[in-house]
Amino acid sequence: MFFGGRTLFGLDIGSSCIKAVQLKEKRGGYELDLFEIVQLPPELIVDGSIIDSIRLVEALKQLVKKAHIRTKNVAIGLAGHASVIIKRISLPEMAEEELQESIKFEAEQYVPFDIEDVNVDFQILGPKEEPGQMDVMLVAVKKDIINEYVSVVKEAGLTPAVVDVDAFALSNMHEINYEIESGKNIALVNVGAHTINLNVVKNGVSVFTRDSALGTSGVAESLQKEFHLPYESAEKLQRGEGAEGVGAAEAFEVMSRAYEDIVAEVARSIEYFHGATLHEETSKVILSGGGALLKDFPKALAKKTGLVVGLAEPFRNISIPRRFDRTYTEESAPLAAVAVGLALRRPDDR
Ligand SMILES: Nc1ncnc2c1ncn2[C@@H]1O[C@H](COP(=O)(O)OP(=O)(O)OP(=O)(O)O)[C@@H](O)[C@H]1O
Ligand SMILES: [Mg+2]
Repeated sequence: MFFGGRTLFGLDIGSSCIKAVQLKEKRGGYELDLFEIVQLPPELIVDGSIIDSIRLVEALKQLVKKAHIRTKNVAIGLAGHASVIIKRISLPEMAEEELQESIKFEAEQYVPFDIEDVNVDFQILGPKEEPGQMDVMLVAVKKDIINEYVSVVKEAGLTPAVVDVDAFALSNMHEINYEIESGKNIALVNVGAHTINLNVVKNGVSVFTRDSALGTSGVAESLQKEFHLPYESAEKLQRGEGAEGVGAAEAFEVMSRAYEDIVAEVARSIEYFHGATLHEETSKVILSGGGALLKDFPKALAKKTGLVVGLAEPFRNISIPRRFDRTYTEESAPLAAVAVGLALRRPDDR
């Protein structure tokens, strides 16, 4: 898809909030040009599907206005086990052009949907040990989900120049910010409000991805139930702001209990990776998304997985001009992981 223009910004449309990031290339590195977060009312996006496109368009327009965005081109990211299939497959060695011709046919057996209902893309990862075979990363995204997001973005007056996948945005974010640790499997884990993305990278290449339909919304929900609170108050409480006579300590007790399902799911996904690759090990977790900001959630995840858990620093190698509020930018940085990865794309990328 080529829509012209040289710049774009990354637009991460989450079910809880929209994150926008734009980067400027500078002396071989990057500088932050835009970082904005706009909260969404609950239930606009359910199971990755846009339920209320009118209000989502409004929120996007509000974001553009609030952040004085003049760039039209955006890169959006899609996720979810129900609409995005990412698989590493093994194929007979062939040229990229040749695979371009046959990818739909090759993909058919790996995609649990009608092949006519998905857009298929691929990346050749390199030769395998077995002679004549090569590793290919296959990506299939349901056309109806692409259309939903593309039309909302267009209605907001923006141009969807690139449609990416959250898991790959995470690995692009990782690539520019972290040194490659040779031979080690690094688990990039993004815990959002309703989705967990796992992307394991090794030597800078994605080797395994898995999305689960679980997230931090369960934490706010259990606060709501326990203390009979409206959603907004539970959200506040979850951020450590007091609400309606509920103390931080009692709230934290309920929150910790709600963490259990989430950390168990992340641990399961990592186990699944170990199982799928037989003897591979994971050396550490880099945690992003709302989960990274929940009090002691990283600790709970470290305990459950037995792995070192570090917070994602998507701006680690990005210089931040003075006009940005440093404390706010650094504190909310883990929320920007996907948006930074999206912002790294070029308008003429495939
Ligand atoms: N400062 C904070 N402290 C604690 N939790 C926070 C903070 N800021 C946001 N959150 C929580 O993080 C969650 C949102 O995380 P995130 O932005 O990663 O989700 P999302 O991308 O909107 O959702 P998804 O990708 O799952 O659709 C919300 O549940 C929100 O309450
Ligand atoms: Mg998200």
